[in-house]
Amino acid sequence: MCGIVAITSKGGGGGGLALALVERLSRLEYRGYDSAGIALVLEGANASQSIYRARAAVASRSLDELKKHLDSAPAGLAAATTGIGHTRWATHGRPSEQNAHPHLGCATAPPGQAGQAGQAGKAGEAGAPRAYPEVAIVHNGIVENWRELAGELERKGHELSSETDSEVVAHLLEEELALTSSSSVAPAPPAPSSPPATLSPLAVALGRVAQRLAGSYAIAAVAAGFPTIAIARRLSPIVIGISGDAGGGTGTVMAASDIPALIGMADRCFVLEDDEVAELNGTAGGFVVAGLDGEPRDPVEITVRWDMEQARKGGYADFMGKELHEQPQAISDTLRGRFNTPEGMALDEMRLSEDELREVDKIFVAACGSSYYASLVGKSALEHWAGLPAEIEIASEFRYRDPILTGRSLVLGVSQSGETVDTLQAVRLARQGHAKVLAVSNVVDSSITRMADGVLYTRAGPEIAVAATKTFSTQVVAFSLLAMYLARLRGLLYPEEVTRLAGDLTGLPALVRAALDREDEVRKVAEELAERRDLFYIGRGAGYPVALEGALKMKEIAYLRAEAYPAGELKHGAIALIEPGTAVVAVATRGRLWEKMMSNISEVKSRGATVVAVVEEGDAETASYVDRSLYVPPSRPLLSAAVDVVPLQLLAYHVARARGCDVDRPRNLAKTVTVE
Ligand code: M6R
Repeated sequence: MCGIVAITSKGGGGGGLALALVERLSRLEYRGYDSAGIALVLEGANASQSIYRARAAVASRSLDELKKHLDSAPAGLAAATTGIGHTRWATHGRPSEQNAHPHLGCATAPPGQAGQAGQAGKAGEAGAPRAYPEVAIVHNGIVENWRELAGELERKGHELSSETDSEVVAHLLEEELALTSSSSVAPAPPAPSSPPATLSPLAVALGRVAQRLAGSYAIAAVAAGFPTIAIARRLSPIVIGISGDAGGGTGTVMAASDIPALIGMADRCFVLEDDEVAELNGTAGGFVVAGLDGEPRDPVEITVRWDMEQARKGGYADFMGKELHEQPQAISDTLRGRFNTPEGMALDEMRLSEDELREVDKIFVAACGSSYYASLVGKSALEHWAGLPAEIEIASEFRYRDPILTGRSLVLGVSQSGETVDTLQAVRLARQGHAKVLAVSNVVDSSITRMADGVLYTRAGPEIAVAATKTFSTQVVAFSLLAMYLARLRGLLYPEEVTRLAGDLTGLPALVRAALDREDEVRKVAEELAERRDLFYIGRGAGYPVALEGALKMKEIAYLRAEAYPAGELKHGAIALIEPGTAVVAVATRGRLWEKMMSNISEVKSRGATVVAVVEEGDAETASYVDRSLYVPPSRPLLSAAVDVVPLQLLAYHVARARGCDVDRPRNLAKTVTVE
């Protein structure tokens, strides 16, 4: 997930500001990143280089690489007082130096890519030459309307040099700043001796740009001649920190996407709310907050009592706890910008044409572990909406048999990491069989995405705990998107149905949040189960893969023997193991097969099992049949897995914690399995 750091201080960094930015960025490394960059305003430098930028894209070594760049930095860097930095987790465009932030506008883009630094010369809309002030921006979030904005900018003569959605912000900002400033190249505003009461043209311009962006953003921007930093926010967090005697104008003012970057430097912290802009003024030692329209707002102060380790985990005890609670956001991010596009729906890098996809007569899915279970959920969506037969295969099995593949087969390789060797080999086999290949992955430019004809990304952000949580639920969502996309192409869903389903999907994060809100109830049940050795999980229909996923979580992090069965299958053998006191976890939400499920629950109860069931809120009837209820809000059948899995994730998590297990790093397991 991307990270932002911005610092402006009164006395300059004594050559240390660039290093301070890199050091603060390193505190965000736990979020995962694939490239990094910084930009500093060079004061008193000549117009040919008023902004210094360095970027590196060597994955987790990018910050070290940035430090090396600083050895050959221009002399003016030592006096710089204002700068921004970014670690990037790719969402639009592959991880590369070209796509790394900060992004510049035309005025500062390298020769050959766009206008020369500081020179006039880009054509205005009416063909008149226009000089832009030099700007640099960093952005977290997703600009959903970037294609439309990029088209508009290109028609005005801007040359965009990256594949990112973020770069449009830099070009829009230089346009706005040219209009907002009294002259075409922005002058330095007079240095105030106390925090400025009003916004400078830089912050006013950023507020105007932000109003044009659809989607989510936390942005930090600098411009040549301005000793200030403008920031803006919608849906992506950004926190302001001040140190020293800020009111008296002697301190440092900074902003960061995450609190860890501020710890040890900031004495007081403030949050920016949605649709607000702020201007940080190191010279004056303060900041001003306003609405995007420039109307002043009161800053909201927060108390930070976390130490560094707590802050890295967002205040949670471990990464798994944090990631569990990130699911609503991860689902929203995975859905963002998919609907209401000019084509109707947008997947990420669908290099397969609509005609090629219409030819598909069968889908194979190859995946491992949780990705396999999410694919089992996806099977129902593909068959129900897209009307295509779907065979879901464990990747390590698929690759060693002789599947009947043709040019009309579509093989999906589903892997959050995109590096699981079994899944990669399955995709290789698919290619040899001349099938079309689509990757579903959480990591941009991972191996699987490079091998595939098309890619659908889950945008869950980095998952650090070994146990999959938010990547499972976002894979379920990704399958729904794909099934709807194919259904549209095949004429099986009318636009109104797509709109209705899109509404259901958009409502999913709130349902997942409601399920997470019941964590305390789940914890109590977990404490009762913590001393068991064996558990059975049962489910039917979409409840069966949920049971499989719940049991896998219990095995991998709590080390309990947990076996999942299709509930109707128990009586064919495994029911012999049920005896008084055996714990059975049942997914008993009100699906089509609810009555059958209740019969299966009766079968185990009559043999003395203790039944813990996932039950819909308000369903007193089911609750009265079982011993313990884990409540979830009702949800649409084909989407319910993302909601119903939540109490089972929480159950495993709290059983593991009650047993004193290391939930983030379970024994014998690796996050990415690169061996056969
Ligand atoms: O990165 P992948 O999705 O390909 O990983 C597949 C499995 O190794 C993974 O889902 C594993 O089962 C999880 N740790 C389970 O929580």
